[in-house]
Amino acid sequence: MLNVAVIGTGYVGLVSGACLADLGHNVVCTDKDTQKIDALRGNAIPFYEPFLKELVEKNTDINRLKFTSNLPDALRDVQVVIVAVGTPTNPNDGRANLSFLNEALDDVVRFLCNDTIVIIKSTVPIGTCDILQKKVDNTSRYKCNIISNPEFLCEGSAIHDFMYPDRIIIGGSLKSKHWIEALYSDHLQRGIKFFYTSRTTAELVKYSSNAFLAMKVAFINEVASLSEKTEVDLETLIDALGSDSRIGYKFLKPGPGFGGSCFPKDLEEIVNVTSHNLLSNNILLTAISHSNTERIKEIADNILDIVPDFGLITILGLTYKANTCDVRASPAIEIIRHLLARNIKRLKCYDPRGMANAKKILGNLVEYSESLYDAALNSSLIIVITEWDEFKNIDTEKLRCLVKIPYIYDLRNIINQQSFLSSGFRVKTLGTFA
Ligand code: UDX
Repeated sequence: MLNVAVIGTGYVGLVSGACLADLGHNVVCTDKDTQKIDALRGNAIPFYEPFLKELVEKNTDINRLKFTSNLPDALRDVQVVIVAVGTPTNPNDGRANLSFLNEALDDVVRFLCNDTIVIIKSTVPIGTCDILQKKVDNTSRYKCNIISNPEFLCEGSAIHDFMYPDRIIIGGSLKSKHWIEALYSDHLQRGIKFFYTSRTTAELVKYSSNAFLAMKVAFINEVASLSEKTEVDLETLIDALGSDSRIGYKFLKPGPGFGGSCFPKDLEEIVNVTSHNLLSNNILLTAISHSNTERIKEIADNILDIVPDFGLITILGLTYKANTCDVRASPAIEIIRHLLARNIKRLKCYDPRGMANAKKILGNLVEYSESLYDAALNSSLIIVITEWDEFKNIDTEKLRCLVKIPYIYDLRNIINQQSFLSSGFRVKTLGTFA
């Protein structure tokens, strides 16, 4: 088993660290944010991710997972360093901000005590890992092999995605293959597919995977709108499309548009790279974000078209998808902004996990509720934006007694329509033709 240091305790770093510890490695997670590290030592996880708390607790109890803000300590006797720091989009030029990554690498070079491999899990622009290799070659006293190993875990199912990935991409020199095989020995034994390739290929696999998935979502959202205008049965249409094995069912669920910390950011970066390389045909890649922005506007317009009066609108769901507390680039927040800009005065929101983060963005522009029933009190229209399980099993009779006008618009097609109709609600879903 290996000694592993993980730099950065965000979604990717913390999940990777906890999972690697669970697979038997000795893992030390580090972060410059000392408050975060102190909290983690007390088993307080800085974000909601199903089963992560239990996994962290289990592995800290048996001493296989540790937390420190002291990087020299963390780097003592390590065979593998994993870098999972943020690479947020720079607002000035839309490029990925690599300052945290460069800082992390400088620190690694400064404090390293032996030869090691440095695995970059942060999403970085194509060519970054080759540049980092040159940099460490020129500055490090020890051999330090840079490997690009992009992570494909989804928030809400991150532990499962780490343990059971469809494939593992390793970009870098084959000299490090034995370390990689030791790190991922469990995955190897289970027959998970490995791709050994160049660093740049690994980097582009990450961007193009996310761009492709985002394109699929944007595509089905456009088709969903079309189905509403042409009186087509959307559910059957999606089933028929998905059953074509060349298309597949995944990422074919229509919704209010995609969001999160990856799709929008990664699309921006891949378009930047095409422009940087003077490619004239980046039409499709450019159109994906545009389609998504239009989707969100279209949904806000649909809401304004059906809102029965200027009374209270109830918003169910603020996170960009279910099973996370993350509201970054959330369509719900964008839709709320559109509605507020169009003179909708009263919005009352409820989300099972995302309220605290949403409050940081929306402040007192909207009202907040502790339960979906409280949010629906005197409501003229209920809008379901996030696909939380809680919204799939609403007590419609109870809700009917609370609302002013029984009208629900389901932007994820998850509610029990029959139950709502039986309780006297007017129901609009994606694919409903008015
Ligand atoms: C994504 C990638 O899938 C993952 O591989 C990468 O490493 C990180 O970014 P994540 O942001 O957690 O993961 O969410 P994902 O499940 O991919 O969904 C992204 C967005 O698309 C969400 O807003 C989601 O609601 C939306 N979506 C997804 C749909 O609207 N319909 C679908 O069928 C699938």
